Amino acid sequence: MPDESEIESKTPRNSESRHTDFLPGHSDHLPILFRAVECARNGIVITDPLRVDNPIIYANPAFSQLTGYATEQIIGRNCRFLQRDDREQVAVKEVREAISKEMPITTILRNYKRNGTLFWNELTISPVRDERGRVINFVGVQNDVTARIDSERRVQEFYSVISHELRTPLSSIHGALTAVEDGTAGRVNAQVMRLVKIAVDNSTRLMRLINDILDWKKLESGKFKLNLAFFDPANAINSVINELQANSESKGVELVPQIMPHHDIYADEDRIIQVLNNLTANAIKFSPPNSRVLITLEAPARDTVRFSVSDKGPGIPSEQMDKLFVRFQQLDSSDTRKKGGSGLGLAISKAIVELHGGNIGVSSVVGEGSSFWFEIFG
Ligand SMILES: Cc1cc2nc3c(=O)[nH]c(=O)nc-3n(C[C@H](O)[C@H](O)[C@H](O)COP(=O)(O)O)c2cc1C
Repeated sequence: MPDESEIESKTPRNSESRHTDFLPGHSDHLPILFRAVECARNGIVITDPLRVDNPIIYANPAFSQLTGYATEQIIGRNCRFLQRDDREQVAVKEVREAISKEMPITTILRNYKRNGTLFWNELTISPVRDERGRVINFVGVQNDVTARIDSERRVQEFYSVISHELRTPLSSIHGALTAVEDGTAGRVNAQVMRLVKIAVDNSTRLMRLINDILDWKKLESGKFKLNLAFFDPANAINSVINELQANSESKGVELVPQIMPHHDIYADEDRIIQVLNNLTANAIKFSPPNSRVLITLEAPARDTVRFSVSDKGPGIPSEQMDKLFVRFQQLDSSDTRKKGGSGLGLAISKAIVELHGGNIGVSSVVGEGSSFWFEIFG
């Protein structure tokens, strides 16, 4: 352990000495700058735009390591040699434009190593200006992001398999089973009907899970678009009750709408129904038989509409509350696991409400029940 006097002796005594440790532009520091650039793990090149075709005049060792070319095979060439014949890239066009306008740019290009291997090059180019503001060089920093791009592509493929190879056939299985269940496909005996109902229930759950996963993906990547319009929020409650009535009756749970004075809202009606459906389906799941689920609509302020769904279920301990709206986090009790669900419903609801600029929350008392609510403004 160094003693205190030792530590003090290595520490700059005052702010002035700290400043002179590194004065930007001071020629004494060039060796430090040079060594830093040489040791950097990113590829770094400097080009000279005052010479024909903006050739590379410096490349650090990491650039050689990244591309497989030795320094003498790099110096004097334009960096486009890394593109080989793969020139029809949007990013190349963007780079060309940025350079001609003397603007900085960050983009990702397809480049090829000396041995021909493709790599994705995350490239940042900055103009270097002299004291009069003239561009005298460009500095480029290269970063190999192939692993990241590959894993993004694999994730993309996975979602596309879920969407096409799973959802499409499942929809047709579900449609066929529903046609048997509702009698459109002809009469079946009671024993077959019992099996068909089980199959319909399970295919519905599976469809919901798949739709949840695809919705979550869209929300996460910012591709989830809202279809905004004015509508009466009471319609959303009626629609959810219609949809979930049979399910709640089979569990002996009564759905009770409580529509207070309110105004139209500017929101995505289908998505508001989706959120309300999710909260109500959860409430039914956790309700004891012969209890009521209240679905309330009110306007606590002139610009606010509040939906709440209250049940007489087991309630949620306060220490588990913050897990509720986090994806894939079902509460940690065997009772909640038995109820099924993707673990995405509340996370999706939260994301949808927040996309509307609204709030979502819950109040709950263990042994008495829970009330999930969300507010939409405007
Ligand atoms: C400092 C600097 C670094 C560059 N680094 C790369 C690179 O690593 N890979 C690449 O494909 N292009 C790189 N370029 C872009 C090409 O040199 C060239 O500007 C681009 O291909 C567009 O111009 P062109 O249509 O004349 O080829 C770099 C450009 C500059 C100025």
